[in-house]
Amino acid sequence: MGATSEFVTPAENVSPARISRDGGWILHEYPVVPSTNLLAASLPAWTAVRADIQTAGRGRFQRSWISDRGGLWLSAVVPVSQEERARRALSLAVGLAICNALQELHVPGLRLRWPNDVMVNDRKLAGLLIDQFVPGLAVIGIGLNVINQPEALDRSLKNRTTRLAEFLPSPPALAGLAFMLLRHLRELVLELDHQGTPFLFLRINQLWGAPRVVELDLDGIFRRGLFTGVDAAGRLRLTDELGNSCFYEAHQVRHLTEIQPSIL
Ligand code: BTN
Repeated sequence: MGATSEFVTPAENVSPARISRDGGWILHEYPVVPSTNLLAASLPAWTAVRADIQTAGRGRFQRSWISDRGGLWLSAVVPVSQEERARRALSLAVGLAICNALQELHVPGLRLRWPNDVMVNDRKLAGLLIDQFVPGLAVIGIGLNVINQPEALDRSLKNRTTRLAEFLPSPPALAGLAFMLLRHLRELVLELDHQGTPFLFLRINQLWGAPRVVELDLDGIFRRGLFTGVDAAGRLRLTDELGNSCFYEAHQVRHLTEIQPSIL
């Protein structure tokens, strides 16, 4: 089913926004906003916000997120499950949803870096930031490099990021791409709600790529080992040289750094 659209001017914002509907979503589009996550904070479930440019894009760990023209800056409001385990798994589920969408576009070399950085080989293609501003609803912020060039604005990103244009000769238009990602996101959120987590952990374990040496920051305590995926409870599994595994609850892990395999 195609998207329908109309032009409106929201009372709280002077810029005109386009509102479109497709696949159970309502998408608000703006030319420039500080952060789409903040705009989405007061919106109902299954509503999303896209902006051409963010002037104060937010990344994980209070970092800023370069949001130049030509990238997809999207925030989607989804209901949060009542079930504790499904609620915790949301962060992994959104990474899987974005990978599912990008696989539909045949992006090669796709993998996830725990918990939900979307990588192409060793370069970051997309990042996700989940906020919860009100009970029962989560805002899923998706930053996907498309034809923009973040490394031109921040030299420290050189050789660390990539964009869809490197793999697709003509990447989809941003609104179409937004609806495609939203379709996959909705599918996965509903599946998580209906089926619980087992299917998720099974599928996501195929997306970490080859096992690699990582360092976990457990709030100041550091553990190094081979990351071999998540177990049936969603805990990270770290294996040492002797093949012994340790398991870490996701909320214990502040950060995971990938180290070259030769270092262990
Ligand atoms: C990360 O640090 O990897 C997460 C980056 C998330 C960026 C997106 S862009 C759309 C949404 N609005 C924001 O301010 N941040 C998220």
